[in-house]
Amino acid sequence: MRLLTTFTAAALALASSCNAVNLVVKASGGNSSSPLMYGLMHEDISNGGDGGIYAELIYNRAFQGSEEFPSSLNGWIPVNGVALSLEKLATPLSKALPYSMNVAAAGSSPGKVGFANTGYWGMDVKVQTYTGSFYVKGSYEGSFTASLQSNLTGETFGSVDVVSQSVAGEWTQHNFTLVPEKAAPNSNNTFAVTFDPAGVKDASLDFNLISLFPPTYKNRPNGLRPDIMEAFAELNPKFLRLPGGNMLEGNTQTTWWKWNETIGPLKDRPGMPNVWGYQITYGMGLVEYMEWCEDLGLEPIVAVWDGLSLDGNFTTQAELGEWIQFALDEIEFLTGDAATTKWGAVRASVGHPQPWSVKYVEIGNEDWLAGAPAAYEAYKQYRLPMFIDAFTQRYPDIQLISSSSVFDNITIPEPAAGDYHSYVEPDTFVAAFGMFDQLTAGNKTLIGEYAAVHPNGGIGWNGDLMPFPWWEGAIGEAVFLLGAERNGDRIIGTTYAPSLRNMNRWQWSVTLLQFAADPALTTRSTSWYMLRLFGNHIISKTLPVTSDTGFGPLYYVAGTSAKGTGIFKAAVYNTTEDVQVSLKFKGYSKGATATLTVLTGPENPYGYNDPLSHVNVVTETTSTVTAGADGSFRFSLPQLSVAVLETDGAVKCRKKRRVEVEA
Ligand SMILES: *[C@@H]1O[C@H](CO)[C@@H](O)[C@H](O)[C@H]1NC(C)=O
Ligand SMILES: *[C@@H]1O[C@H](CO)[C@@H](O)[C@H](O)[C@H]1NC(C)=O
Ligand SMILES: *[C@@H]1O[C@H](CO)[C@@H](O)[C@H](O)[C@H]1NC(C)=O
Ligand SMILES: *[C@@H]1O[C@H](CO)[C@@H](O)[C@H](O)[C@H]1NC(C)=O
Ligand SMILES: *[C@@H]1O[C@H](CO)[C@@H](O)[C@H](O)[C@H]1NC(C)=O
Ligand SMILES: *[C@@H]1O[C@H](CO)[C@@H](O)[C@H](O)[C@H]1NC(C)=O
Ligand SMILES: *[C@@H]1O[C@H](CO)[C@@H](O)[C@H](O)[C@H]1NC(C)=O
Ligand SMILES: *[C@@H]1O[C@H](CO)[C@@H](O)[C@H](O)[C@H]1NC(C)=O
Ligand SMILES: *[C@@H]1O[C@H](CO)[C@@H](O)[C@H](O)[C@H]1NC(C)=O
Repeated sequence: MRLLTTFTAAALALASSCNAVNLVVKASGGNSSSPLMYGLMHEDISNGGDGGIYAELIYNRAFQGSEEFPSSLNGWIPVNGVALSLEKLATPLSKALPYSMNVAAAGSSPGKVGFANTGYWGMDVKVQTYTGSFYVKGSYEGSFTASLQSNLTGETFGSVDVVSQSVAGEWTQHNFTLVPEKAAPNSNNTFAVTFDPAGVKDASLDFNLISLFPPTYKNRPNGLRPDIMEAFAELNPKFLRLPGGNMLEGNTQTTWWKWNETIGPLKDRPGMPNVWGYQITYGMGLVEYMEWCEDLGLEPIVAVWDGLSLDGNFTTQAELGEWIQFALDEIEFLTGDAATTKWGAVRASVGHPQPWSVKYVEIGNEDWLAGAPAAYEAYKQYRLPMFIDAFTQRYPDIQLISSSSVFDNITIPEPAAGDYHSYVEPDTFVAAFGMFDQLTAGNKTLIGEYAAVHPNGGIGWNGDLMPFPWWEGAIGEAVFLLGAERNGDRIIGTTYAPSLRNMNRWQWSVTLLQFAADPALTTRSTSWYMLRLFGNHIISKTLPVTSDTGFGPLYYVAGTSAKGTGIFKAAVYNTTEDVQVSLKFKGYSKGATATLTVLTGPENPYGYNDPLSHVNVVTETTSTVTAGADGSFRFSLPQLSVAVLETDGAVKCRKKRRVEVEA
């Protein structure tokens, strides 16, 4: 929401208020700030890739399963009463995909038969190009029909005939594109493949890897949802912590995210039992994460498995060498030369001859948590040091990051940095404003996960999470982030987590973006708006600020951007009266102009952006402020607001100008 505002001469009276803060930003004396300050974290706590950011529309497309989540025909509906059965054939499509779906043709009623898929709680159907494919085994003469239709009324929105290439005893891939003639009114739709049983020689056909993609972000094959990627892009993020947190660890020593099984043709990706209660396909693999980085200009922070699984089990010192090599291979796959390295050649063979650059590697995820204290002791004693030794030798230019920080009772061997995670209530974030001031120059840290999750006074980890990110929570986070930015030379970057929540299946209610099959439901949270403001004004160098009062209720950081403009970021927490700010950047004088953007929330501090109501409770007010006679910018900020002032440049003293108003 944007409002038009006029700043009047009344602003001049502000300085007399008892809630006034006079700030002077020095012209020099600060520190360089991390260029990665605001980033993204992908966590499968919602549906992550599958049914999440990964654009695949077909649910259970290849009947993947595990001991925990056995293969099934979930998501598949017979068309025209035909019998569908799950088969483990002697001739599977691939070793990775041993199960397939058999469709009986003999004895079926007249007319076409086949199957439909209900998607991830529906499918969005628009007049756009869908790209699909499926594998069939069995002799069939005729055509398949691929179609999109309503699951409520049966109305067909579009269909295409796919001439059969299918023969007995072999798996044959069929590719097609489908452009519906009409958009569906809602997302209660299915995708179907049907065929004429009269053309089937041997009573049945087998199907596997049935896939359908709508247009993807930047039209990447096997790509990501445009609506979600656009919501990320608007934040102007600078890094991606991948592939996730708990998902990296896995539930047991055998079921975790093995990067080598997530690459190459989809038919060679087995998937795994996810830690969030479902099987994942590995459709979104390591390469897809790197393409995500490419498409949004993100620096990858690649987390490697370090022997800890969520059951608390961890690899013995004697066996760790294998997994250190596995992690080194992963970095070679990403960065190695295609002609001279083994894994670089594998990368080239999957379509990426050019090496990527990897500057940050994180060793594990939250090693202080699962299996503590024994697993954490093992991390301190041998797991972390062994990884650091091996990586320092092989990749001396990579900044290594421990999965715990100095705040987690660890002395991190140099040259590694730390990673600090915080899921707390707003008051705790505000109280933590000064915590990063304690970091010495050698104690760099990533803030790899944070979010306000409980209201103040909230208790219990799962006890009373808020239903969505809420406005007061976003202000608490903002104060915490300002504390991080003040120490931008010691903070590698910050990222809110988790980022994605499918409203039909999720573990955790407080996430950055909420979504469902229908892209119109994609909802930016209150925290998203705060982060968009901070992330689009990048401080490249902090500057010292002198104040006539301490921090609180106004919290702030000041600095300069790469192009030399002055930036002031602030948040107001716990005041009954507006804060009257007088802000002078040294070297700026009367008549200098700046753009002030202020975000305020709803009357109710617990207000949030609900995907069902579509109401954005965050109000953005943008105005131009002009420096007064003493060169100071004057403005007032209300309770629970965040603001950024960015100067239009160093302006010479000039005659008084009318205050401008900007929409
Ligand atoms: C810059 O870093 C030094 C030393 O780490 C610190 O004392 C000082 O407060 C920092 N300055 C700013 C403006 O953050
Ligand atoms: C679609 O229809 C099938 C049966 O006709 C039903 O089992 C299923 O629940 C429906 N799915 C949705 C999303 O409405
Ligand atoms: C189907 O499309 C994929 C992806 O473009 C391609 O690799 C494959 O060769 C195609 N298959 C056939 C049978 O054309
Ligand atoms: C259509 O699907 C949505 C999302 O799954 C669901 O909430 C809604 O109840 C469905 N509508 C009907 C009429 O079934
Ligand atoms: C820990 O993992 C090892 C290796 O997979 C396995 O042999 C052992 O049984 C596991 N221990 C527990 C307690 O699960
Ligand atoms: C991936 O690597 C692991 C560990 O080396 C190995 O056990 C597994 O077989 C590999 N998977 C594939 C598909 O090569
Ligand atoms: C901190 O770590 C040390 C060494 O790992 C351990 O002995 C000590 O108990 C830990 N302290 C706390 C408060 O957890
Ligand atoms: C905010 O105000 C409340 C009520 O006075 C107080 O309990 C709380 O500690 C304050 N929080 C901070 C971070 O100052
Ligand atoms: C990091 O911080 C800890 C605790 O404050 C301190 O003991 C240690 O010397 C610091 N390390 C470096 C390299 O500055």
